[in-house]
Amino acid sequence: MKTVVITGISGVLGSALGKHYMQQGWRVVGVSRQSQLEGDFFSELCTNQQKTEADARKLLAYDPDLVIVNAGQIETEVGAEGVPLVNQFEAITSVNYRFPALVGLVASEMKLNKRLDVVAIGSIADGSPSCFGPVYHASKIALHYFYSGVGPIVHHANRNVRMRLYRPGAIKGPLAWAPVNRLNEKGYKIRAKRVEGAPEGPEVAETIANWIKTDEWVGTFEEPFSFKIFKWLFALAPNAFYKLQLLGWRKGSKYTS
Ligand SMILES: NC(=O)c1ccc[n+]([C@@H]2O[C@H](COP(=O)([O-])OP(=O)(O)OC[C@H]3O[C@@H](n4cnc5c(N)ncnc54)[C@H](OP(=O)(O)O)[C@@H]3O)[C@@H](O)[C@H]2O)c1
Repeated sequence: MKTVVITGISGVLGSALGKHYMQQGWRVVGVSRQSQLEGDFFSELCTNQQKTEADARKLLAYDPDLVIVNAGQIETEVGAEGVPLVNQFEAITSVNYRFPALVGLVASEMKLNKRLDVVAIGSIADGSPSCFGPVYHASKIALHYFYSGVGPIVHHANRNVRMRLYRPGAIKGPLAWAPVNRLNEKGYKIRAKRVEGAPEGPEVAETIANWIKTDEWVGTFEEPFSFKIFKWLFALAPNAFYKLQLLGWRKGSKYTS
């Protein structure tokens, strides 16, 4: 029987992924910070704070075939004038970037006689920074850089380990709504349209599970055209991009209009 370890098992995508792998006959180790959780989407609960190297080692001690580092956090609260809060910055950076990076590094040291896929869940929001979810975007960008930069080294050092990244788009659920906490009414309507048209967790989980079976290193949900434009502008003309963000904040933020 194959084993998958899934972090953020209690969430929208984590529970859907867990259910999918349970239906496929896998042993599903569901990881949560909570010590009690009920559900049919995991076979064993692993309570883990997902902060340290020791936490990462505990996940790999299940001898998994697949680890999906899915737990993630977005800015649900902001400070005065929309400035990021320090405690949210710490938690988001830790779970979205540091911990998935640590899992990849610890996996590289494993003595294995079978393949181990470590799949980090990123976001299509990693293409360019945004004033409307800046800490989230920065952490997902860092995750993408780390996996694309360190993953090839790890794979050459330990051929059985593949550090891979999947970048979902919006999924119907509370996380997708968080960017509205800095938006004015016009911006809110644009975001609402995107979230209301977003796929449900089970659909995204199935897409991701099918992608995991391929040999791709980075998988991406189709990015809206506007995301692609911002990404190119950010890469090719960073100063112009910054100026556009200044303008965007003035026009789209609830703190300035
Ligand atoms: N939803 C979207 O629109 C969207 C779009 C693109 C990418 N993604 C990515 O997809 C992944 C799953 O998203 P989702 O919509 O399923 O989110 P979700 O429903 O909010 O679930 C995320 C889970 O992560 C765990 N978690 C949250 N903060 C944590 C922290 N600081 N440390 C450790 N665990 C923490 C929580 O589990 P416990 O409380 O049980 O520990 C939570 O249930 C995330 O990485 C997210 O960034 C989501």
